[in-house]
Amino acid sequence: MPPLMDKWRHYFPLYERHLAPFRNRPVLLVEIGVYHGGSLAHFREFLGPQARIIGVDINPRCASLAGDGIEIRIGSQEDRRFLRELADSLPPIDILIDDGGHTMRQQRVTFEELFPRVAPDGVYLCEDLHTAYWPEYGGGYRRMGSFIEYAKGWVDQLHGWHGRGHAPHVTEFTRTVRGVHFYDSLVVVEKGPVGPPERQITGTPSFPPDTPPRHPWPRRLLGTGRLRLNQALARLRLPGV
Ligand SMILES: C[S@@+](CC[C@H](N)C(=O)[O-])C[C@H]1O[C@@H](n2cnc3c(N)ncnc32)[C@H](O)[C@@H]1O
Repeated sequence: MPPLMDKWRHYFPLYERHLAPFRNRPVLLVEIGVYHGGSLAHFREFLGPQARIIGVDINPRCASLAGDGIEIRIGSQEDRRFLRELADSLPPIDILIDDGGHTMRQQRVTFEELFPRVAPDGVYLCEDLHTAYWPEYGGGYRRMGSFIEYAKGWVDQLHGWHGRGHAPHVTEFTRTVRGVHFYDSLVVVEKGPVGPPERQITGTPSFPPDTPPRHPWPRRLLGTGRLRLNQALARLRLPGV
């Protein structure tokens, strides 16, 4: 029998979707949260014999689960020094899975320390995001500092090219993340080099270029008037027109 594994069932098709391109390649997977070793055995099987699989856990008993193509490192995902030393001892990580203690601090510290160590075409998965709504993990609905609120900031950073002199700005995240995929309790951050977006216009017009737009607003609110109104509303963080 394979060792005990504790995952939501709906994660498995998502692993298929996001991790299948890494199969049968010499990739490095690091999973925080070993438990009884079941998921490490799963990924060993899923990725094939060329993959290097490393599990990280705070529980020293997990060290006994090393072997059969699986390495174990013991330490806390809240300990920045431990995470830096871990990353320094490894090549860039192709797949990082955070399935550890699931507190807001653990998820944030782990992301801050290990996301920059993920390879330029790698993926970062954080599991059991629902703890972001549970106070015992430091979460709460729209609570400042929850990992869900932190992750919402990534949406702005993806759009850093469009800030028009104001936030959002182009950040390292803007330049190195191809996409962020949110699912129930799971977020997948897909890395890839990203440059400024390029507009592509093809085809022939379907209407003459001077067709006046049909608009429900009075003319005086269109053009600069409308722009000024929207700027004022934006300063007050009110919905635009
Ligand atoms: C949900 S279980 C992991 C489940 C496992 N990935 C699986 O799918 O079977 C959480 C694990 O995180 C570990 N853990 C809790 N706090 C931790 C911390 N601060 N650093 C590293 N591991 C931690 C626990 O010891 C436990 O083994």
